[in-house]
This record gives sequence, structure tokens and C-alpha cells, in this order.
Amino acid sequence: MPREEISSDWYKDIIIYEIPIKSFRDSNGDGIGDFPGLTGKLDYLKNLGVTALWLLPFTDSPLKDDGYDIRDYYNIYPSYGTMDDFLHFLEETHKRGMRVITELVLNHTSNTHPWFVSARSSRDSPFRDYYVWSDTPDRYKDTRVIFNDTEKSNWTWEPKTRQFYWHRFFHHQPDLNFENPQVQEELLKVVKFWFRLGVDGLRCDAVPYLYEREGTNCENLPETHLFMKRLRAEVDLEFPGRMLLAEANQTPQDVLPYFGNGDEFHMAYHFPLMPRLFIAIAQGDRRSIVDILEKTPPIPDSCQWAIFLRNHDELTLEMVSDLERDYLWTIYAQDPRMRLNIGIRRRLAPLMQNDRRKVDLMYSLLLTFPGTPILYYGDEIGMGDNVHLGDRNGVRTPMQWSFDRNGGFSRANPSDLFTPPIQNALYGYQVVNVENQIDFPTSPLNVLRQMIQIRQSSRLFGRGKMKLLTPKNTHVFAYLRESEEDVVLVLNNLSDRTESVVLDLSRFRGYVPVELFSGKRFPRILRAHFHFTISPYGYFWLRLLLPEEEAGRRRIRAARKTSPAAPPAFRELLEREAPG
Ligand code: BGC
Ligand code: CA
Repeated sequence: MPREEISSDWYKDIIIYEIPIKSFRDSNGDGIGDFPGLTGKLDYLKNLGVTALWLLPFTDSPLKDDGYDIRDYYNIYPSYGTMDDFLHFLEETHKRGMRVITELVLNHTSNTHPWFVSARSSRDSPFRDYYVWSDTPDRYKDTRVIFNDTEKSNWTWEPKTRQFYWHRFFHHQPDLNFENPQVQEELLKVVKFWFRLGVDGLRCDAVPYLYEREGTNCENLPETHLFMKRLRAEVDLEFPGRMLLAEANQTPQDVLPYFGNGDEFHMAYHFPLMPRLFIAIAQGDRRSIVDILEKTPPIPDSCQWAIFLRNHDELTLEMVSDLERDYLWTIYAQDPRMRLNIGIRRRLAPLMQNDRRKVDLMYSLLLTFPGTPILYYGDEIGMGDNVHLGDRNGVRTPMQWSFDRNGGFSRANPSDLFTPPIQNALYGYQVVNVENQIDFPTSPLNVLRQMIQIRQSSRLFGRGKMKLLTPKNTHVFAYLRESEEDVVLVLNNLSDRTESVVLDLSRFRGYVPVELFSGKRFPRILRAHFHFTISPYGYFWLRLLLPEEEAGRRRIRAARKTSPAAPPAFRELLEREAPG
């Protein structure tokens, strides 16, 4: 894909799919997913309709935090394949018109990284100052402990050199010292290395925590913004058109500065929105979503929110009030094993009690909201989780491709798998798998695929404005997505009952609503108030067309019918997958 031909803000129009290499597809039968395995599944992803792949960390690591504990920024973890395997994957992904986003772990390394091994060995080590040391654990007292289930303090004692070192995450992940210019240089080198290889974007891990300063909570400090602006400037100079995504689990007000004046990050996750989608569907009421949208400030034109339902971590509840957190824990994590740190370690389908209507509705919200949606591998087929596995491993189990051995993930002896696949009666790979769903038009996979197709048929969803409608019935969440040339009305019934709602559509008198899944026309909007009835957890996506526009579109459709190039069937593409 020649980069020059594509707009530099391509990240506004993509759909991201998040992948742990380890869990996706094992090509050589050693029980661990790898790059050749993933490359063999690119046609599956292409046909799901996603347009960018976000890979979880894959460079060398002791894997005590699944690769976020980096031992080597430049080499691939051997079980995942070789650098050639990675480059081949990159080329094949680009050939299919998809983008690749990889991880940039700035804040910390593994304690097995040679820098730390040297730093901890002697106070005179040339790398001593790469990390943050102290004689007392009393410094930076106002800083919260993030992994509070496993870590009691952000300081850990290093007996050999008799000082404490600073870490915001696990004690085996010492924080780098960004006051040290050499550390900054090293990380800039890492950035350039991966961009030079051709990745399209970097997801910058844990950015709020780069600097520490006494008397603050050591988050979002001005120095962090200065460093990120410098990084951005260097990227723009040498690699224009590449993207930086901030992982800053903060309020929208605190995330805003990470966009700068369009001169810091291109994208940032909207963390606080996510739990509120789960509150809204549990309460059957739109108000918690409306509330957070109203608190979300406008962002610079060139920037974009990244939005998501689930990811590889626990469903974090840091960005909700104590009351809301208790509510979410009560509803979604009755079993204490489902809780982790300040969050819930479960997948989407089990969170929705495997109710298809609710799962589809959550995707209806995600895929019609402003921002770029991120899907988590396996959630497209409704995979379950395993609370018996430690940490967050229960949501990182092998992808379920078929009902064959190990769910089609690997030919290995089942006892050799890095972790067992889901095997229970409801979510086990014998039942929930890609092969089972591919031929059924109404399977979770195919409904999501259709939603993706519709979303991708118009730039409106990634770029248009959102205007909330305010019907009295708060069980219904309705809004317009609008651009200069297109307008779509979206209605979501968050409740478990049939609801009726009256919308003020006076602005659209004379328009015809066209339902986007079926192409069916609704009665023309003639009066100011339009009445809808929606089934429990139902949703409508309606394009509002003026009569002339409608005629124009029909002509285009008729012309398209005569064009011969029909896309190959989904199953056909799956079977074409490279063997192994
Ligand atoms: C990642 C986690 C990881 C942590 C420490 C997070 O933001 O998403 O999976 O454990 O950073 O690197
Ligand atoms: Ca393998």
C-alpha cells in the first residue's frame, strides 16, 4: 500500500483487532502461537473486516507480565518466530491493505533487561541512573499502587546495593528514569527501529507514569508531555503518517493534554466510557453514557479517541466512582475470583450472560460511536474465560478455530499447550468456534462482520459528529451521526423490555429512514415527531435519505449489480488459509 496515496489521518477510519501472538495460532505444534500462525490467518481477519492489527508485546521477555516486561527491545521472543517471520507477517498484512500497530513499553523494563542487571549490581554501574533509586521508601508517598492485589508498595529493596528502586507495576518491572537523557535517547532509538521496519503505529504503554515528582501523584506530569512532544516531532520528521496511541487510564480532562495541540498523540483510549457502557446495559438506562459523553471535551481535529469494550487486561474500574464500582462488581463479578486489582477479569460474552441480544447491542454501541473501535480477539465468536487461571490469563486463552484438537489452535499434545483452551459446556471450543459460525448468517461472527461492513461503508462513523437525542424514555439511547454528506440515526434499546420512543426529527421532515442491515425503507418522516418501537436490547441503524439522494443511490446500486467482481465467500477464504 503506497503510503503517500493514503490520508495521513488514516487512523480515523480503521477498525482495530487486538491480538496476543501466543494465543492466536500455533504453526509448528509447540503449543505456543507464533507469527507464521498469525500470517496464515490474515485472510480470516481481512474478511472479518478489521483494517488494523494491534499486536501485544512480542519481543524477548521472561513473560512475567506477558511481554510487557521487556528484556530486549529489538529481538522477537524466540517461540513467536524470527525477525524474518515478523517481516513476512508485516508484508502480508500490508498487502491486504491492513495496518500494523505494535507496542512501545516506555515506562519500565523487565528486571532481567541487561540495563537493570547491570544497574542493580553496583552503584557505580553506568546503567545505575537508568532507573529510579532511593534510600527510603517514603518518597512519592502520594502515588497509588496500580497492581494492588500483588504489590504493596511502588518501592522494592535491592539488597546488593542497599537501595530501593521505583516501579509502578510489578516489582519485577523497574521504572526507567526519564530524567536521564540517555534513557530518552534509548527509547527514541527503539521507536525509530520499529518505524523503520514499517510498522504503522505504536501503542505507547502506561504513558502517565514516565516521571516522578515529590508532592504530586506522579501521573501526567508536564515533563511527560514535553518528552512525548519531542518524540512526536521526531516521528513526524522522519516517519510522517505514522500513528502514536496513548494508553493513559485517566479522566477525559487528564487525557486531553496528551493530544496537545495536535502535536502529541494522534490517538488515546477513552477509558471512562467503557465501564459506563456496562453500567448502562445493566441498568437499562442511557444516563451513565450520556453523562460521560457530556464530560468528554472536544479534541483537536487531527486526533481520535480509541474505544473498546474488552481487552487483554481486567475490565478496569479505576475511572468510575466508588458507588459505580460497587455496582459493577455486584452485577458482573459475583464470584470473587472474577475480580482483579480494581477490575473484572472476564470476557464480553460471559459478562453479557451469553445473551446474544446484549452482545450485539454492545457492538451496536461500539461501532456507531465516534472514535476508532477496537475488538479483542475471540470476542467476535463469543469466547468465554477461565477464572481458574492466574492474573489476566483467563482472558488470553487459545483462539477457538474449530472443534478439532485444541480448538484448531495447535496440533500439539494438549498437555504441551501454553495454557488450556476453554473447555466448558457453554463456551468450550467444541461449541464456540470460527468454523461453526462461518456458514450461519446470524452467528455472532457474521452479525459483527455485517456491522463492520456497514460502518466501513461510510466515513461518517469515524469522522462525523455525534448529536444526542433526548427522548423522555431513558431506556432508549438515540443519536445522530452526521457529516456534511451523510446522516445516520441510531437507536439502542438498553432495556430487557420492548420500548416505544418518540423522537423529535423535525429537522429531517421529508427524509426517508433506510434500515442499514436489511436495506428496508421506513415510512417517510412527515411530522416533527417520529415514533419507534424497539424490541428488548434491539437496535436500529437508519440512514436518513432525501428523496433525490435515494434515487441517486438506487442508480448506483443498479450500476453495481452489473459489475462482475463478487468477493469470494468467507468460508472459501478460510479454507484457502496457508496450511499449518
Ligand atoms: C498493559 C498491561 C501491563 C501494564 C504494565 C498496561 O497498561 O495493558 O497489560 O500489565 O501496562 O506494562
Ligand atoms: Ca508455535
